[in-house]
Amino acid sequence: MITKILEGNLDNISLAATALKSGKLVAFPTETVYGLGAIATDDDAVAKIFKAKSRPSFNPLIIHFKNILDVKKEVFWNDTAEALARTFWPGPITLILNRKNTSKISVLASAGLKTVAVRVPGHYIAKILIQECGAPIAAPSANESGLISPTDAQHVMKSLFNKIPYIIDGRATKIGLESTVIDLSQDAPAILRPGYITKEQIEKSIKYSVTVNDGSTNGTNVISPGMINKHYSPNVPMRINATEFLKNEKVLGFGPKAPTLAMNLSYSSNLDEAASNLFKFLHKLDHSDTQSIAVMPIPEVGLGIAINDRLRRASLKD
Ligand code: TXA
Ligand code: MG
Repeated sequence: MITKILEGNLDNISLAATALKSGKLVAFPTETVYGLGAIATDDDAVAKIFKAKSRPSFNPLIIHFKNILDVKKEVFWNDTAEALARTFWPGPITLILNRKNTSKISVLASAGLKTVAVRVPGHYIAKILIQECGAPIAAPSANESGLISPTDAQHVMKSLFNKIPYIIDGRATKIGLESTVIDLSQDAPAILRPGYITKEQIEKSIKYSVTVNDGSTNGTNVISPGMINKHYSPNVPMRINATEFLKNEKVLGFGPKAPTLAMNLSYSSNLDEAASNLFKFLHKLDHSDTQSIAVMPIPEVGLGIAINDRLRRASLKD
């Protein structure tokens, strides 16, 4: 199969929708990272996602919807979901809710769990694509499982070359870091994956505090299978919180004190800017000339928590 990059215009989005409706996979931009989409109600198409990414089948996918009305057809809605959806959708937050018996979402897409991860994305290409398909789209990040997430069409090409027919090019994604995943299927909401929307923003919206469970279990049960172990990783060794650097290391810097030759996530220590540069710079550093990467400390506050989560997982050894 030859992978084709399509410029993100209306004709090409229609073409991509036709491909999706015939059971093919299409990578497309969202405001966070590029997603690898299949029609969420089509088991065979969803199975192709797991195959193309070499993703373990126990790791469920996020289902992308056009609007709240369509979401409510598939899952049991509640007041917390309503508050968060009103504040942050369309946008970078994913809600875990209990699946309705009548739901048409592929059971494979949610890895056989009783819950489904739902999100209404804000990117215009994602929105038009879902609209044109007339169905929700299941989409994990469009990269080989465990490796660096894609923030532009070339990143997708590098990772999924000739495994999928189309990539819609919407240039670099604005946010550059994945959505926050929050479990609303139990009485107490819990953040399962820190992301662009911070804990503080969530608490302000729902007016009470939430727990963070970024481990992958609640003692015995795996509750967010995608949060296990190593992830987001370059092919070369990487260490974090580095304040001194070795001769052969490439430095991923942060703030005004970074060495001049370092790639700097943000000279002005701006966490939004650092989030949007994170995967882009890791992709740039992840090539044959690099022996190892040293990352300077990022403050563990606000968006820094999600950035550090990605860096920590990326730096884990096999
Ligand atoms: O920003 C994003 O969220 C991007 C764009 C494409 O929307 N998508 C994304 O998908 O990051 P992915 O597959 O890379 O990450 C989905 C995360 C995984 O950690 C997965 O385990 C978790 O969501 N997840 C999905 N369904 C779940 C469920 N029912 N219960 C618990 N965790 C779930
Ligand atoms: Mg991913």
